[in-house]
Amino acid sequence: MRVLVVGGAGYIGSVTVERLLEAGHEVVVFDSLVSGHAAAVHPQAELVVGDARDDEALGRLFAAHRFDAVIHLAAYIQAGESVRHPGRYFANNVGSLICVLNAMVAYEVGMIVFSSSAAVYGVPDPIPITEDAPLRPVNPYGASKAMGEHLLPWYREAHGIRYVSLRYFNAAGATSRLGEDHRPETHLLPIALEVAIGRREALPIYGTEHPTHDGTCVRDYVHVLDLAQAHVQALEHLSRGGQGGAYNLGGGRGYSVLEVVETVRRITGHPLPTQSLPPRPGDPPYLVASWERARRELGWQPTRDLDDMVASAWEWMRAHPQGYPR
Ligand code: NAD
Ligand code: UFG
Repeated sequence: MRVLVVGGAGYIGSVTVERLLEAGHEVVVFDSLVSGHAAAVHPQAELVVGDARDDEALGRLFAAHRFDAVIHLAAYIQAGESVRHPGRYFANNVGSLICVLNAMVAYEVGMIVFSSSAAVYGVPDPIPITEDAPLRPVNPYGASKAMGEHLLPWYREAHGIRYVSLRYFNAAGATSRLGEDHRPETHLLPIALEVAIGRREALPIYGTEHPTHDGTCVRDYVHVLDLAQAHVQALEHLSRGGQGGAYNLGGGRGYSVLEVVETVRRITGHPLPTQSLPPRPGDPPYLVASWERARRELGWQPTRDLDDMVASAWEWMRAHPQGYPR
C-alpha cells in the first residue's frame, strides 16, 4: 500500500514509518516539524513539511500521490498544557483530523488509522479498562482525542471511510535508530533517564499518596515497536474489509512510578535520586488496559516488557545524548 503518515516525524510516527517500510509499504510523511524531527524520518520515506490544517497543502499532497490509506498521528500531546490552552489543543488535534478527512473524501482515500489515547477514559474504575468503558476525559487533550474518535463514524456513514482508532496507553522504549526526544520532555521514563545520564539532578515524583499499592500512579507501559506493529496490523485488518473501531494498546500490566524508578536503577546502575512533589493535576491514579479486543480482531499482542523498554531507551539515550540534531 501507499500510506500517508501525518505526524510521521514524531516519536511514535517515526517508528511506525520504519515498521511500515519493513512490511513492504511505500510511505510519505507529512509533518509540520512543530515537535518532530526531520532526522527521525527514514530515508526511504518521502518527507513533505507542512501543517495538516492547511487545506491547500493537503490538496497538493493528495493530488501528487494516490494514497491507499492514512495514519494520522499529528497532535499536541501534553495533557497538563492542554488545561491552560484548550483552544490550541482543539484547533490542532481536532482541526488537523478534519482537514485530513476532508482531503481523503476529495481524493477518495478509504482507510484511516487514528492515534487516540487512554486519556479518552479520564479516571476509570481501577480494573483493566475495556473499550466499552465510558469516555469521560478529564482534560482538553483527552477530550480532543474523544472528539476525533466521534468524527470518524460520520465520515464512514457519509463517505465510506473505514477507520481504526488506536488508544495507546503509555508509549516507551526505542529502536536502535529512533527514540523519544520531546522538548520539553514530560514523560516519566525519558526524564528518569535524563537523571541517569546526568542532565537532571533528581526525578520529580508527582504524588505519593494516590490510592494505589505504593501511593504512586500506576500506568500501563507499551513498547513503541509494539505500537508501530499495531498500525501495520490495523491497516491489514481494514484492507481485508474489517469493521474497525477502537482498540486499546497496552502491555496489560500496571507499574507504579516507584516500580519504574527501581527498574531504571537496576538497568542503568545509577542511584537515581528522587524528589517528592505534589500530584500533577488531572493525573488518573491507575490506568491499565485490556488489549483483548486488539488480540482478537487485529491479531496484535505486546511482545516486549518494561525491562526491554527501559534498556532500549537507555541505549538510545547513551547513543544520542543530545537527542536528534537541532
Ligand atoms: P510527537 O509530538 O513526537 O509526534 C507528533 C507529531 O505530529 C510531531 O512530529 C509533530 O511535528 C506533528 N504535528 C503536530 N501537529 C501537526 C500539524 N498540525 N500538522 C502536521 N504535523 C503536526 O508525539 P508522539 O508521542 O509520537 O504521539 C503521537 C500520537 O500518539 C499523538 O497523536 C498522541 O496524542 C498519541 N499518543 C501518544 C502517547 C505517548 O505515550 N507518547 C500516548 C497516547 C497517545
Ligand atoms: N511522572 C512523575 N514524574 C515525572 C513525569 C511523570 O512522577 O517527571 C508520573 C506522572 O505523574 C504519571 C506517570 O509518571 O503518574 C506517567 O506520566 P507520563 O507523563 O509519562 O505519562 P501520562 O500517563 O501522563 O500520559 C501518557 C501520554 C498520554 C496518554 C497517556 C495514556 O503522554 O498521551 O500516557 O496513559 F494519554
